[in-house]
Amino acid sequence: MTIDYNKFISNRGKLKGPSAIREIIAISQQPGMISLGGGLPNPSTFPFKSIKVELKDSSSLTIEGQDLELALQYLPTYGLPKLSLWLKELQKVKHYLTDRESWNLIITTGSQDALSMAMEVLLNDGDSIITEEPTYSGTLSILRPLALNIIGIETDEYGMKPDQLEQRLSTHPSDKPFPKVIYLIPTGQNPGGSTMNDKRKEEIYAIASKFNLLILEDDPYFYLQYGEEKSKKSFLSMDVDRRVIRFDSLSKILSSGLRIGFATGPQFLIEKIQYHQQSSTLHASGMSQVIAQQLLTSWGIENFDKHIESVQQFYKEKRDQFVAALLEHLGDLVEYNIPQAGMFFWMKLKGISDSKKLISQKALEKKVILLPGCAFLTNPSEISSHVRASFSIASSEQMNEALKRLSLLLKEEISN
Ligand SMILES: Cc1ncc(COP(=O)(O)O)c(C=O)c1O
Repeated sequence: MTIDYNKFISNRGKLKGPSAIREIIAISQQPGMISLGGGLPNPSTFPFKSIKVELKDSSSLTIEGQDLELALQYLPTYGLPKLSLWLKELQKVKHYLTDRESWNLIITTGSQDALSMAMEVLLNDGDSIITEEPTYSGTLSILRPLALNIIGIETDEYGMKPDQLEQRLSTHPSDKPFPKVIYLIPTGQNPGGSTMNDKRKEEIYAIASKFNLLILEDDPYFYLQYGEEKSKKSFLSMDVDRRVIRFDSLSKILSSGLRIGFATGPQFLIEKIQYHQQSSTLHASGMSQVIAQQLLTSWGIENFDKHIESVQQFYKEKRDQFVAALLEHLGDLVEYNIPQAGMFFWMKLKGISDSKKLISQKALEKKVILLPGCAFLTNPSEISSHVRASFSIASSEQMNEALKRLSLLLKEEISN
């Protein structure tokens, strides 16, 4: 199937084109080129001589010379070339891409900014978009100001339900624009904790194909899969039609403060995002990119995988500690699925219709913070009996204490 991408581009996106200065910066880095065109600050005036990064395994990285000079200067909008190459290789290996396909990758200031740019170049005010119900509040913050018709599709432990999706698309009211995009978080969903298995992904992909929708695969927890049943098949890897833009992040595996994300997808769509970035951040931080690049290059994919395994093991242990604390303190006061990836439990507080009231007043008085479910609902005026609990930071003792306090609170509420 050949997709006419123009159909998916918003009016704002259609007006985004290359910036003359930014294009010159990309060309000026070709070997032998003499540029009088770019207006770059002269790096000899910059005070930095070298950067030494000491790692927890006692090794270190020294960034100096040409590598440092490049990182300190304005960069091509697509990203630091050596980091782009490394990440493209990673995508090829993890998502079974080949060079023959016309895909590209852009490095962004976290995946959040990539998502924001993609929404901007794809969606007009008033457009319809499909999301999971519940969905990531950070994406809802991008979507709400665009006055979109946000259609939340019910989820279960494997994420978005295909039958509900198909039913909703088949009965879409004719007075509203037909959805162009499905936004989903396939792994360790935030906040639902669900992880799509390969079968579920194939079903959703087939529906996207049938109704000709793009899939925005927001997958920052892809490398945080610690369950028995790991999904190796991303939407990107099964994208025979070229309808997927995949959003990855280094936030959960290297550092969230680096602010490095990357979007991978059809050349045409990634170029549109690039035009947007040419007019917003210009490019992700060069310092962050060079640190990530030197680390990843020194590791290679093999040691990257080893690091990932240790991160997965860490979160698995945290998840298990949380389950133990839940069993000890909350028993049948709550309902939940045990996450196989990511860092969230989505818990239904039994007997509580509006968790926000409980969380924003009484739970705070008892000194325990949870996020109320309504923050993740597509309809901001709906109430929810769910809360999102994150087990990433709290120690086992803190988890136990927090859930003990929650249990006391729930018992008080139910007996009133
Ligand atoms: C589902 C989801 N998407 C995107 C992001 C943004 O991540 P980044 O730090 O890469 O901007 C987050 C962060 O928590 C997230 O949970």
